[in-house]
Amino acid sequence: MSQPTIESILQEKRLFPPSPEFSQNAHIKSQEDYQKLYDTAKADPEAFWAELAEKELHWFQKWDTVLDWQPPFGKWFVGGKINISYNCLDRHLTTWRKNKAALIWEGEPGDSRTLTYAQLHREVCQFANVLKELGVVKGDRVGIYMPMIPEAAIAMLACARIGAPHTVVFGGFSSEALRDRLIDGQVKLVVTADGGWRKDAIVPLKEQVDKALADNSAPTVTDVLVVKRTGQNIEMEVGRDHWWHELQHTVSADCPAEPMDSEDMLFILYTSGSTGKPKGVVHTTGGYNLYTHITTKWIFDLQDTDVYWCTADVGWITGHSYIVYGPLSNGATTLMYEGAPRASNPGCFWDVIEKYGVTIFYTAPTAIRAFIKMGEAIPNTRNMSSLRLLGTVGEPINPEAWMWYHRVIGGERCPIVDTWWQTETGGIMITPLPGAIPTKPGSATRPFPGIIADIVDLDGNPVGDNSGGYLVVKHPWPSMLRTVYGDSDRFRRTYWEHIPPKDGQYLYFAGDGARRDEDGYFWVMGRVDDVISVAGHRLGTMEIESALVSHPAVAEAAVVGKPDEVKGEEVYAFVTLEGSYTPSKELEKELKDHVVKEIGAIARPGEIRFTDGMPKTRSGKIMRRLLRSLAAGEEVKGDTSTLEDRTVLDKLRGGA
Ligand code: PRX
Repeated sequence: MSQPTIESILQEKRLFPPSPEFSQNAHIKSQEDYQKLYDTAKADPEAFWAELAEKELHWFQKWDTVLDWQPPFGKWFVGGKINISYNCLDRHLTTWRKNKAALIWEGEPGDSRTLTYAQLHREVCQFANVLKELGVVKGDRVGIYMPMIPEAAIAMLACARIGAPHTVVFGGFSSEALRDRLIDGQVKLVVTADGGWRKDAIVPLKEQVDKALADNSAPTVTDVLVVKRTGQNIEMEVGRDHWWHELQHTVSADCPAEPMDSEDMLFILYTSGSTGKPKGVVHTTGGYNLYTHITTKWIFDLQDTDVYWCTADVGWITGHSYIVYGPLSNGATTLMYEGAPRASNPGCFWDVIEKYGVTIFYTAPTAIRAFIKMGEAIPNTRNMSSLRLLGTVGEPINPEAWMWYHRVIGGERCPIVDTWWQTETGGIMITPLPGAIPTKPGSATRPFPGIIADIVDLDGNPVGDNSGGYLVVKHPWPSMLRTVYGDSDRFRRTYWEHIPPKDGQYLYFAGDGARRDEDGYFWVMGRVDDVISVAGHRLGTMEIESALVSHPAVAEAAVVGKPDEVKGEEVYAFVTLEGSYTPSKELEKELKDHVVKEIGAIARPGEIRFTDGMPKTRSGKIMRRLLRSLAAGEEVKGDTSTLEDRTVLDKLRGGA
């Protein structure tokens, strides 16, 4: 891990308190209320979480122990029996919410569907029975590789209902990336669709699944369920592949939710790390249910009249926690949109807001930057007066982009919740509570009650106000990752050993640099490891390098992030070729396509720079700091005395 090169040059003085009307109607109404909750939780976290778990969720059986903490392994609500699908569906059916819209869905071509709680419950029960018919039992893993259609959420909830952990693989990943995840997760059954709509084109999902399973390369997979979405021709392998719509009506709609142990695995979600293959982040049931429930309620200030829209894909943690589980557990109306802003319809998000009267809108800084680029004339022609609260997630938002969001989308009346969290944390950790905390553009503000966050040096000593350091969490929280699937050593090494325990207290290391200002506000500055952030998604540079090196022309590759106005960072690759190959435009394109094939379009290098050698230390480590400066077109500064061969750098500098 490199030292943080964190200098706080950002001095943001603007402060935006919520309006008195917003605060009056909010769940948490003032700074004092926040502080009270924060202090109570800090004094006795277990009592705080236990009280909420009792009040907010349905348990088939109460727990014996709130927290069993054998660092770094935490168990929450041990002995408790619960089912998150029950909490998201069944318990609303005995209330007036039975016929409330649970899921509003808008397809990219303009088709739409609304499912009430009763309808969603029925679909989930039927699909759970389909899974059972195909032999899926409690504990079996189910892969979900889907477009953004209601069936994605239905499949997740059906898995949760019968206790089969799901592993959702983002539909933009390639067949190779899918195969790796199916193998690592030892997946039994895959749920997919013929295709999905994305930017006016069809994403051929079933074809990718066929490739991933070719030659029995993911041997644990016995069945594939296919939703008919786009209707294009696909191959159906007899015995293995089944149409969702054909089986869905052959089963009963009666499927009681399985009482799960609080600590039974709910899902695995793969995320990039700095080395090696993606990590299967494991989340369990009770703690995750509670934490996503209460964070959704307080941070998005959910009221029963809200139409809540999170634009993430269900393939990311944001989609899991804040499209599906958090909102439905609260009995909210959650909106799901299949499409993305595209040349033929750059204003589609604003159309969706206008059409459904969306009140809460949660998106990513990368999307906001793209909107800024397209110009405010587009949103200005839509009526977005229904909006009352905005949110962002995925990466630091630059204060000017925050101001644009506030002014153009929020009409200067909507608070913005800038939410810091990770796949591993399961839910939002640092964030404003919108009726309580005045916001500062660019800051995620304060920890959620019950979260003890700090900024420390590499020895675990807290750093002073306004000094850069490493962001850590000091006390376990209910939705923390439990382990890395099949690799508890990696779990320990990655999150708990970079910074040693301090005075017997284990510190969860998030991998981000941050500072805290004199008001206790956190300013997250980004990753400190070799992970780059493209459009708000973490990509391990190592994985992209491995993909490049798997091409016969490539001898060595080093990937860095290059600052990009819209995507945050773009992939910039330095490549050394095998002796018999020479650089060419054709080869450059071929290598870019190769990365897309291996990982997916999200990892496509924006630029490839051919070089005869890499700048390395005497011990052979590539000096990425230098490559980052070169990629950004900056002067290479700092110490270069450890370089093995200075001429390599001189050549790269000279553009040779
Ligand atoms: O670097 C932080 C950044 O995104 C990382 C987590 O990525 P992932 O697990 O893919 O989850 C993304 C959605 C939760 C973090 O380590 N990040 C996320 N939100 C913020 C952020 N950086 C600054 N501000 C945020 N609000």
